Amino acid sequence: MAGMGTHQKAGNGEKIWLTPPDLINALGPFDLDPCFSNPRPWATANEHFGPESAGGFGGLFEDWFGLVWCNPPYDQDAGKWLSKCADHGSAIALVFARTETEQFHRQIWERATGLFFFEGRLTFCYPNGSLASANGGAPSVLVCYGEAAFDRVYNAGLRGKMIRLRNA
Ligand SMILES: C[S@@+](CC[C@H](N)C(=O)[O-])C[C@H]1O[C@@H](n2cnc3c(N)ncnc32)[C@H](O)[C@@H]1O
Repeated sequence: MAGMGTHQKAGNGEKIWLTPPDLINALGPFDLDPCFSNPRPWATANEHFGPESAGGFGGLFEDWFGLVWCNPPYDQDAGKWLSKCADHGSAIALVFARTETEQFHRQIWERATGLFFFEGRLTFCYPNGSLASANGGAPSVLVCYGEAAFDRVYNAGLRGKMIRLRNA
């Protein structure tokens, strides 16, 4: 399946890119972040699952609950995280806006409630909480699954443009 790309190299070998906390603060609070390992510099939700959860199978294999925040691992499984967000029906996902890919069509264009395209590029954080030395290298999009997610993003006061999709 065509994926949605990775972050540009920031020159320090980091592979984990955290959501900037001001974005979490603008969108939260969330009930669950199913993909955030320990140690973490800040909470993104009231509860978190990491790679060690579900007996080592990870957060994809847990039961999700409430309003979910999902900035998934940037690997070949990104589509599975988006699919679980859609199945769960109440989630905001943060991914790159690779709008032409098969993954984006199957899990986002065909299943999401709405999308928010940022003005400018996000600068993510390293696992120690410090701001990365360069932006993510690609445009990011917030993907809303369900009305609660849509309302959160719509009312967050972020700079960019929101569109509503006509998916059931
Ligand atoms: C892009 S980072 C986002 C972290 C955090 N959710 C945030 O928004 O800042 C992806 C996170 O997923 C974690 N992760 C990787 N594989 C996982 C799995 N199978 N289950 C749960 N978490 C996983 C990584 O350790 C990393 O902390």
